[in-house]
Amino acid sequence: MNPQNRQLQEIVARAEGEIGQAANLHDLQLVKSRWLGKKSELQGLMKLLGGLPKEERPAFGQRVNQAKSQVGACVRLREETLKEADYLRTLEERRLDITMPGRRRQAGALHPITLATRFIEDVCISMGFEVAEGPDIEDEYHNFDALNTPDDHPARDLSDTFYIEDDVLLRTQTSTVQIRVMETHKPPIRIIAPGRCYRNDNDASHSPVFSQLEALVVDKGVTFADFRDTVDIFTKRVFGEQIESRFRPHFFPFTEPSAELDILCSACKGSGCNVCKGSGWLELGGAGMVDPNVFRACGIDPEVYSGYAFGFGIERVAMLLLGIPDMRMLFENDVRMLRQFRSYKGVHQGSGASS
Ligand code: DAH
Repeated sequence: MNPQNRQLQEIVARAEGEIGQAANLHDLQLVKSRWLGKKSELQGLMKLLGGLPKEERPAFGQRVNQAKSQVGACVRLREETLKEADYLRTLEERRLDITMPGRRRQAGALHPITLATRFIEDVCISMGFEVAEGPDIEDEYHNFDALNTPDDHPARDLSDTFYIEDDVLLRTQTSTVQIRVMETHKPPIRIIAPGRCYRNDNDASHSPVFSQLEALVVDKGVTFADFRDTVDIFTKRVFGEQIESRFRPHFFPFTEPSAELDILCSACKGSGCNVCKGSGWLELGGAGMVDPNVFRACGIDPEVYSGYAFGFGIERVAMLLLGIPDMRMLFENDVRMLRQFRSYKGVHQGSGASS
């Protein structure tokens, strides 16, 4: 073998050795340019071509080219091997354990106060009422004056009502919505107004923020008998057929006559228990025939129209329907408590206090 051939073989052998050693694609790239690049030994041999006798040149050129393609093939082979190894390593690293339990999505639920509100709304809508709304931030006129409340009434006191400015306050009752509806709508009116109310009260049975639902009916010829009957149907639909209701004489500035509305204790059905403190009855809210002064304040002629209104706390109803013993539980929002109530459906079949 002539010395050039030997030299070529020896170069190829060294190149193949180094290519085989390249541990990754990056290294392989460096090795490749060392053995096949412009400054490589093989390229250097090509430069010797000019110095050779003419007849030897083609054969030598051919051999150098063969050596180059041999080295090139070796690089491609190594490249494939390294890529394959890379791929297998990635598969291994990203291996999915399909037996691992998934992360369960936390499903939210409606708050018991919202559940109770929607339930009462459904009952009232089935009785022909529409749902009305008014602002939480009110003026004294809608919260007191138009509701026939005298200037010196204790409810107006700073110790009972949250004032924002002189004449601006957080409504203490949803009765304000009566006024807003009567100011803007002509009778017949048949609305309920659920919403938040605010009072400077905070103890075991009072919260500074609470919810009320107000109902108002105004039309020609509305009588106390209509009133009594509607309230009776309403309380039975909300609390169950066995739950009687009764009126006790009372006073509210915006109704005449006025009454307090009681229902038969839904926990003991009247026999007396600790929920009703032995009396068999539970106080639900206030009620009465709309006072003529309230009609006048809203531009409705009390000689032509009459009506009735009632209002009560929604927290109370939620507690009775869902069997929640302490009002504070409704505001603490402990999810262990909230999770137990996802629907008011079936409250009369025994999941609430009425069972
Ligand atoms: N707004 C009264 C309160 O917060 C409840 C009430 C009493 C509403 C008599 C009425 C009513 O509609 O006629 O105590």
